[in-house]
Amino acid sequence: MKQRLQKLIAAAGLASRRQAEDWINAGRVTLNGRVASLGDRADLEKDCVQVDGRSLEAGQPRVYLLLNKPVGYVTTARDPQGRSLVTDLVRDVPVRLFSVGRLDLNTDGLLLLTNDGALAARLTHPRHRVAKTYLVRVRGALSSEARQRLEGGVELEDGPTAPARISRVRLAGSHTWFELTLYEGRNRQVRRMCEVVGLPVSRLKRIGLASLNLEGVRVGHYRHLTAGEVARLKRL
Ligand code: URA
Repeated sequence: MKQRLQKLIAAAGLASRRQAEDWINAGRVTLNGRVASLGDRADLEKDCVQVDGRSLEAGQPRVYLLLNKPVGYVTTARDPQGRSLVTDLVRDVPVRLFSVGRLDLNTDGLLLLTNDGALAARLTHPRHRVAKTYLVRVRGALSSEARQRLEGGVELEDGPTAPARISRVRLAGSHTWFELTLYEGRNRQVRRMCEVVGLPVSRLKRIGLASLNLEGVRVGHYRHLTAGEVARLKRL
């Protein structure tokens, strides 16, 4: 079935439809060897569509998105309580995506969405110790004893936590901000760890995952990972 080129390019995970339209207008896209125009349609089983000289493949494309999740969205595929889903924020990507790991309803920040199950499994498996960095605000002051416990491992009901790293500690009135890097990912782990040391979390944002961060991505928006970023994640 023939489809508009911008739709095919977006479905291949290379760009949003809007970006793809810009690429077509800029002459970066060819259809069967000729520079394509906006409105052209193609069937990847029969036609050759190239972006910057590289062909789009037929078949299910892999898509990798970095979303800046807002508070108030759930990361599950559906929600019986009818709350907003993170996939609502990527509706213009015509592929079924799921999130890599979870963020709580009240946690915002960096979330990967993909349809690449193998990569998602690698990134979430504790064996690979993928770094996840959170900006945390707790009620109270972070004593050196609490810091040592959080970094060294605390006992949770599902077992002791692995060594973690704390940096950029800043006291602000009755609260403390710090960055906490974990190398595992259990359900509500940051909140539970902080609770155990007597520091209830009042704000939680994921700001890093492996070498990725939120730079340039506004809350509620997403960007496609570059081919280099995907390759780096696959090497982890
Ligand atoms: N830890 C938590 O407690 N919540 C999250 O959403 C992520 C990590």
